[in-house]
Amino acid sequence: MLRQFPQYTSASLGHALAGLIRAGLLERSRDQDARTEAFHTWRQWHPVASFFHFSTKDSHTPADPEDSVRALRKRSRTTPMPPPEKRYPKARQISLPAPKAQGEFPQVLLARRTWRQFSRSPVEIGRLASLLSLSFGVQSWVDLWGMGRVALKTSASGGARHPIEAYLLALRVEGLPRGLYHYAAGAHRLELLRRGATGAEAIQHLNGQWWFGDAAAVVLMTAVFARTQWKYPAPRAYRAILIDAGHLCQTFCLVATWLGLAPFCTMALADSCIEAALGIDGVRESVVYAAGVGTPPHGSKWAPWPTRAYGTHRPNPVW
Ligand SMILES: Cc1cc2nc3c(=O)[nH]c(=O)nc-3n(C[C@H](O)[C@H](O)[C@H](O)COP(=O)(O)O)c2cc1C
Repeated sequence: MLRQFPQYTSASLGHALAGLIRAGLLERSRDQDARTEAFHTWRQWHPVASFFHFSTKDSHTPADPEDSVRALRKRSRTTPMPPPEKRYPKARQISLPAPKAQGEFPQVLLARRTWRQFSRSPVEIGRLASLLSLSFGVQSWVDLWGMGRVALKTSASGGARHPIEAYLLALRVEGLPRGLYHYAAGAHRLELLRRGATGAEAIQHLNGQWWFGDAAAVVLMTAVFARTQWKYPAPRAYRAILIDAGHLCQTFCLVATWLGLAPFCTMALADSCIEAALGIDGVRESVVYAAGVGTPPHGSKWAPWPTRAYGTHRPNPVW
């Protein structure tokens, strides 16, 4: 080929081919084999769960909060918002005693909010360690007679499969260099995957949500599908994976609140970009959810709305 087109060097051809591969127009047969093999691991859940998983990958371009509220206000003029609760007014009504709201536990539950503004103060590594351990750490192991062992954590997990892994993008953690880490849930250790991390990178991973750029740390939750697929051949088990992630995330937000931190969760993610950063294939292991934490802005008792779109005088704690 090079003899026929002397104007091309092997370097320039290699460069062009790499571009076509990056654009998805060409596939290396080696890559294709690896991908086909990886997709094969989903065979029992095909096509129901795999279609849902792969066709809903990568969030759409985010709307700025102001645009999104404007669009919803317009929609509500033609299509009213559905009522936020259900009632049976004709049914006999039984009043209940007032809920017990005193004590540390209910106070933590009541204090939890989604935060979208943070101070520049770092989170100490001790608090981050407690947060990781009490949310994602293995609390004990159970032996499954000749099959191996399964983990128990502070959150429930369908079939005790615990398919969720936690990766940490450390941005402002006192005593921990910025970087991308994997949380080894059994050993309670951080495994450094790459040095260096920026707020801009966090925003990119969180699909352009600039209001999370000042977070001190972001936790990217991935699912290792084989753990669940091994036990449950029916595609309904895919639901358990997403629900498991929700359990862990709520625990994370509550523990963070208890530690005096400002947590958030988001599923507006740039999945492919995160998976490339983590070095995972997106098929056997894929990102499903993210949470993060910062320190609350000085003097604020309530999670303030991001200021870039609204100005400080327009608090609106609901997204
Ligand atoms: C599954 C899920 C996805 C969410 N995704 C986002 C998101 O992409 N961006 C964001 O700013 N908040 C996100 N949130 C936070 C919600 O907007 C927030 O929980 C809601 O407004 C209620 O406020 P509260 O958490 O303070 O009670 C998400 C929450 C959940 C449970």
